[in-house]
Amino acid sequence: MKLLKDNQPTDLENMVGLTRRGFISAGALCGAAMFLGGDLLSRSVLAASVHAANTKLLGFDSIAATTADSISLPPGYTSSVLISWGQPLRADGPAFDPSGKGSAEAQEIQFGDNNDGMSLFTFPGDDANEASRALMAINNEYTNYRYLFDHGQDPQSAEEVRKALASEGVSVIEVKRENGQWQFVQGSKYNRRIHGNTPIHLSGPAAGDELLKTADDKTGKNVLGTFQNCANGKTPWGTYLTCEENFTDCFGSRDPTQKIDAATKRYGVVPASKEINWHPHDPRFDIAANPNEFNRHGWVVEIDPFDPKSTPVKRTALGRFKHENAALTETRGGRVAVYMGDDERGEFIYKFISRDKIDHKNPQANRDILDHGTLYVAQFDNGDSHPDHPKGQGKWIELTHGKNGIDASSGFASQAQVLIHARMAASVVNATRMDRPEWIVVSPSDGQVYCTLTNNTKRGEDGQPVGGPNPRAKNQYGQILRWRENDDNPSAMAFTWDLFVVAGNPGVHSGTPQGGSSNITPQNMFNSPDGLGFDQGGRLWILTDGDSTNAGDFAGMGNNQMLCADPTSGEIRRFMVGPVGCEVTGISFAPDQKALFVGIQHPGENGGSTFPEHLPNGKPRSSVMVITREDGGIVGA
Ligand code: FEO
Ligand code: CA
Ligand code: CA
Repeated sequence: MKLLKDNQPTDLENMVGLTRRGFISAGALCGAAMFLGGDLLSRSVLAASVHAANTKLLGFDSIAATTADSISLPPGYTSSVLISWGQPLRADGPAFDPSGKGSAEAQEIQFGDNNDGMSLFTFPGDDANEASRALMAINNEYTNYRYLFDHGQDPQSAEEVRKALASEGVSVIEVKRENGQWQFVQGSKYNRRIHGNTPIHLSGPAAGDELLKTADDKTGKNVLGTFQNCANGKTPWGTYLTCEENFTDCFGSRDPTQKIDAATKRYGVVPASKEINWHPHDPRFDIAANPNEFNRHGWVVEIDPFDPKSTPVKRTALGRFKHENAALTETRGGRVAVYMGDDERGEFIYKFISRDKIDHKNPQANRDILDHGTLYVAQFDNGDSHPDHPKGQGKWIELTHGKNGIDASSGFASQAQVLIHARMAASVVNATRMDRPEWIVVSPSDGQVYCTLTNNTKRGEDGQPVGGPNPRAKNQYGQILRWRENDDNPSAMAFTWDLFVVAGNPGVHSGTPQGGSSNITPQNMFNSPDGLGFDQGGRLWILTDGDSTNAGDFAGMGNNQMLCADPTSGEIRRFMVGPVGCEVTGISFAPDQKALFVGIQHPGENGGSTFPEHLPNGKPRSSVMVITREDGGIVGA
């Protein structure tokens, strides 16, 4: 087969007339279709091409670490802002008010704060590889009171809580490419905010359960809002998944003697709330007044970006925990598999497999497919304890009421309770406590699954043994775990695993484990891998959310950054460094792979940044950046 040059069609694709949307039917032909962070790819079409192209997969040189308040890129690359926090979505919308005095009502129709995971959707009927118009759904994870309010402190009123809720959730925007440049289309009829007070349905096995009913919603099926929206997923039927992560921090109690039951404790709620402090001003977040509201968050939410009037749906079959992202792929039998991590020290990795097969001919027929299926949790063995490249085996354990000891004897009265308290059900079956699972992606070349385990300062204590895929006590640098399902079938119940990279600092520590695995060098070192994305060429992009002090154990690592890896050779090169105090998170690609969208979240989190406008005394603003090559080529190639 002719080498696949990045996004050029292969002979096989030409033969079978594949377009990106056509890949699903090719998936049946090939055994499985892969759904990436942004796009669908046929596994076997890409397998040959990726392997063949591997000798020059990374077409740029690793750049130096830096602490500059700017975007640093390899020579020949350039960046621009697609959209920033506070930008009005309507043509006549209220402009961003840098004073912090802007209203909640204004924020509800402006781009949200702290953008995170995002997906790009081409319009049905457009040539998916050449499209120059698309929708993007972009998470707005949380907000920084330092910049949101003129007083820079916690919210002082119900109106200010409403403004904070308005800054979170999801922004749907139209984008277009004009004169070779991708731009935000202000005023598009598709532009939409979904925020912390937007009406949302609950569906699936837990919907309507007693634990989900409140005084305001006696059905247990209608909830206000989604917030703390971390990363994302994209379905093959054209919808967006937004994942609720640190919802636990949003609740508190005005009663200092508040009793915290085992489930509430396991989900990490404390009476004083953790920094967010909505509960003193909005009783919805006061667990004394509203003990069940808390159970209505921590879900994966499905959104139709093409229907601005549609009501988002929380899919309870996928379980309730601190969701990072949702990585979709297709089983050999045509069902959808969803991989998900619970980002907490010592929490778990999950997999959902749908009951029903995906209907590729009729996308609408899949609209409730995520309501029926089976949830599993991962258990890893200790592996071979290899100092540089440990590997081993693992299995998936079903979290179904009546199986594996999950029943009344362990405190579960129903499947609804299993899903609402998924963490506790997973503990019953002795799932492996992980080093904070963040993003998960599925390789387009061979179906292997990659998961960032970002760090875990509690590894080695608190009942979290050192070993297996979590090999380092007081893990401050993180690692990337990889597994391969048996028979390369996402519905398999067992897998083999290895560590793709163990991050470390070879400039400070020699050898493993603190110096990192052999693919870590002083030129590419980083800490706390978090975001992940595969492009269509098979490059693995790694985004970091770590310690950017550039000192001590982190000396020489600079600001948070984005790296790019060759999954076959394990080579990693630093591609981009973000501005001061930011996290780099959220990644998507233009259909032709000639633009990479990447999120700069909370620049100047603790001050010291005026990114991206660099106005004198200006506020830093979270932004989605567009990275392109000056010669118009494929990014990363
Ligand atoms: Fe929102 Fe676990 O990162
Ligand atoms: Ca993250
Ligand atoms: Ca993180």
